[in-house]
Amino acid sequence: MKKQLTIYLSIAGLLLLLIGAIFFFLNESEIKSTGGTHLVEVEPKVENPDLIVEGVHVRTGLVDAVGLQEVITNCTTCHSSKLIIQNRMGKEQWNATIRWMQETQGLWDLGENQKIIVDYLTTNYPTFKKGRRAALTDIEWYPLDTK
Ligand code: HEC
Repeated sequence: MKKQLTIYLSIAGLLLLLIGAIFFFLNESEIKSTGGTHLVEVEPKVENPDLIVEGVHVRTGLVDAVGLQEVITNCTTCHSSKLIIQNRMGKEQWNATIRWMQETQGLWDLGENQKIIVDYLTTNYPTFKKGRRAALTDIEWYPLDTK
């Protein structure tokens, strides 16, 4: 009688072990089958968000000049910097665009930064009205290391 009970208990124990093992391997294979697809890299990360290469701020594509930081801080949180680069405007139009964003899109008061930003935009992204851009001056050329 006692022997029978021992046998029953051992069989039950073995069954539990087997069920446990099956669940373990099922889980394992599930992780393996989904693991691969979840590791898709979305965008190459720019290591340094302030990186500037050849006069261009890499993360935003904006020209490195006086006012760059103000533009990055105030103008690239809601939309891409491309929207800014594509639009060539004069001072008045920029001020009007900024007012429009403040009245309808929730842009904050820029305070003293507004002048800095508008100067940056009109200086570095002038209107296309002139037949061609003015000749470049004051350029410091440097050899490009192509190795
Ligand atoms: C609070 C959010 C916000 C901020 C900050 C912001 N904008 Fe905008 N801006 C918008 C929205 C929304 C639009 C409309 C986008 C669209 O039409 O897809 C827009 C549109 C524009 C346009 C296109 C206007 C047109 O006529 O098509 C320009 C240029 C622009 N923004 C420049 C700037 C500049 C420069 C700054 C920094 C001073 C700035 N934005 C900051 C929300 C913002």
